Amino acid sequence: MSENITAPAPRPAWWRHGVIYQLYVRSFADANGDGIGDLNGIAARLDHIAGLGVDGVWLNPCYPSPNRDGGYDVADYTVIDERYGGMPAFEALRDAAHARGLKLLMDLVPNHCSAQHAWFRRAVAAGPGSDERARFIFRDGRGPGGSQPPNNWRSTFGGPAWTRLTAPDGEPEQWYLHSFDASQPDFNWANPQVADMFDEVLRTWFDRGVDGFRIDVAYAMVKHPDLPDLEDPAGDNPYLWNQPGVHEIFRRWRALAESYGEGRELALVGEVWLPPAEAADYIRPGELHQVFNFDLLQQSFDAREFRTSITDCVDALKHAEGVPAWTLNSHDVHRAVTRYGLTDPEPLSTADANALRTRARGAVDVQLGIKRAKAALLLMLALPGAAYLYQGEELGLPEVQDLPDDARQDPIWERSGRTEHGRDGSRVPLPWQADAPNFGFSLPARHEDDQSDVAAPWLPQPPWFADYSVDRQDADPDSVLAFYRRALGERRRLDPDAPLVWLEIQREDAIAFRRGQYVCATVFDGPPIDAPAEWGQAVISSGAPGGTTTTTWYRAAA
Ligand code: NOJ
Repeated sequence: MSENITAPAPRPAWWRHGVIYQLYVRSFADANGDGIGDLNGIAARLDHIAGLGVDGVWLNPCYPSPNRDGGYDVADYTVIDERYGGMPAFEALRDAAHARGLKLLMDLVPNHCSAQHAWFRRAVAAGPGSDERARFIFRDGRGPGGSQPPNNWRSTFGGPAWTRLTAPDGEPEQWYLHSFDASQPDFNWANPQVADMFDEVLRTWFDRGVDGFRIDVAYAMVKHPDLPDLEDPAGDNPYLWNQPGVHEIFRRWRALAESYGEGRELALVGEVWLPPAEAADYIRPGELHQVFNFDLLQQSFDAREFRTSITDCVDALKHAEGVPAWTLNSHDVHRAVTRYGLTDPEPLSTADANALRTRARGAVDVQLGIKRAKAALLLMLALPGAAYLYQGEELGLPEVQDLPDDARQDPIWERSGRTEHGRDGSRVPLPWQADAPNFGFSLPARHEDDQSDVAAPWLPQPPWFADYSVDRQDADPDSVLAFYRRALGERRRLDPDAPLVWLEIQREDAIAFRRGQYVCATVFDGPPIDAPAEWGQAVISSGAPGGTTTTTWYRAAA
C-alpha cells in the first residue's frame, strides 16, 4: 500500500519564489501622529500587507541616523531609532509578522555609515595615520598644500567623491572617500576590523529573529587598491563597482547565515545595479540567495526590450544557484505608472547612469501608465524567481513629480545643483483614507472631523492622493488593489520550479511563455491576441483577456 504513494515534492525554500513587500518606514503609516511613519504604524496596518498575499516584508533602514540620505547614513547598526518606536516596536512588529507567516528582512548598509557613527567620529579625532582612520578611506590631497582631491572620482549623487576635513585649529587636513553623500563615509573593507564588525551586526539581528537582509550597494564595498584616476570621470567607475574581491564578503556571510541551520531559511539579497550576466555572479553557489534584477525596470514598455531583458537574465542563471529578485518599483526610481505613462520626457542629466532610464520627468498619461504597469506586474509575477513590490504600487500610485522644491529631502537635489529632482516623489506618505487628515497616514486621526492633533506628513501629500486611497479601492473589485490581490493569489498556484519556455507566437508587439501549466502572454501596444485552445482558460488578466496593453495568464487543465 504505502510503497505506491509518492510523497509530494517539498516546496522549495521561500526565498526561491517568495514575494516581498518593501516598506519605506517613514512613509507607510504613522502611529504616534508626528508625521513620520514608524514600526507601530506598520504593525497596525499589517493586515493590509498580509491581505495582499505576500510572503514577507523588507524594512528600509530604521536605525539611528541623521537622515541625510533617508536612513542610508547609519549612525548605529545595532538598534532601532526611537523615532520609529525603538526596540520594543521592532519586537512587536517581528512577532506580529511571524504570527501571520510573514518573513522580516532588514536593510544592511555595509559600504558606508553616517559621519555621526562612533567609528567615524573617532577616526576624525584620532588624526592621520591612526588605526581609527584605517577603518575608512582617508588620503592626503594632491597638488600644492594637498588642496586637490586624491583622485577624480565623482559621487553617485553628484559632485566630488572626496571631502576634506578641517582640523580643530582650522587647518585643512586629509580627505575621505564617499561614494554617495559627504555625510556617508565609505568603509575600508581591506581592514579586517570592518568585516568583523559586520559579522557582529548580522549575528545581532539573526539572533533577534530577522529572516534576512537586503544588502545596500552590494557591489561597491571593495575598491581598487590603487584608487586610480578615471579616464572619464563622468562615466562608469570600474574601480569602485564590482571589484572581484567583493565576492569574498558574500561567501563569508553565506557561511555565517548557514551556521544558523537550514530550518531558519535565512536569506541575503543584493542590491546590484549590473547587467544580468554580471549580477548573476553574486548568486553563484555559496554566495547570495537572491540578486535584484534591475535590468527589466530600465526597459521601455516594449515587447522586444522585455523579451531580451528576461532572456538575458534567465540565460545568466546557468552558473547560479540563487535566484533573481524581480522588481518594477522601489524608493530609488520613479513609480512604474509614471515611467510607463510618460508622454513627453524632459531631458535629464544625472551623475548616476542607472538613473537615466528610471527617473525621467515630464507629462504623464496616467490611465495608460496604470494599464501598462498592471500588465508589467502580471508578467513579472509569472517569471521564475522571487519578486519585490514597493509600498503604494498596489494602489497604482503615480510619482509625485511636483513636490515643492523646499520640501525636497533627497541629497541628490542639492548635490546636483538642483538639476536632478531625485527620489522624493516615490517616497510620499501613503493615502489610506480619502477623508481623514493626512489621508489616514497618521493613525491618531481617523476621520475628517477628528480633532486629534497630528503633525503634517514629512513630505506633503498632493490632493489627488485621495483618489488612490486604500479605503476607496478596498471594496471596488475593479481597483488596482483588488487586481494585485488576485494576481498574488494566482501566483501561489504556479509551480516555482517550472522553467520558463518561450512560445514563438510570430508577433513583434507581444510575447508569450510557458511556466508549467500556465502560459503568460503580454500584448504590448498591438492588436489583441488569439490564444490557441492548448493554452487553456484565461484565469487572470490585467485588462480584457488577451487584449491590447494587457497581460493574461492561461491555465491548461492538469
Ligand atoms: C541604495 C539605496 O537604495 C539608496 O536609497 C541609497 O541612497 C544608496 N544606496 C546609498 O546608500
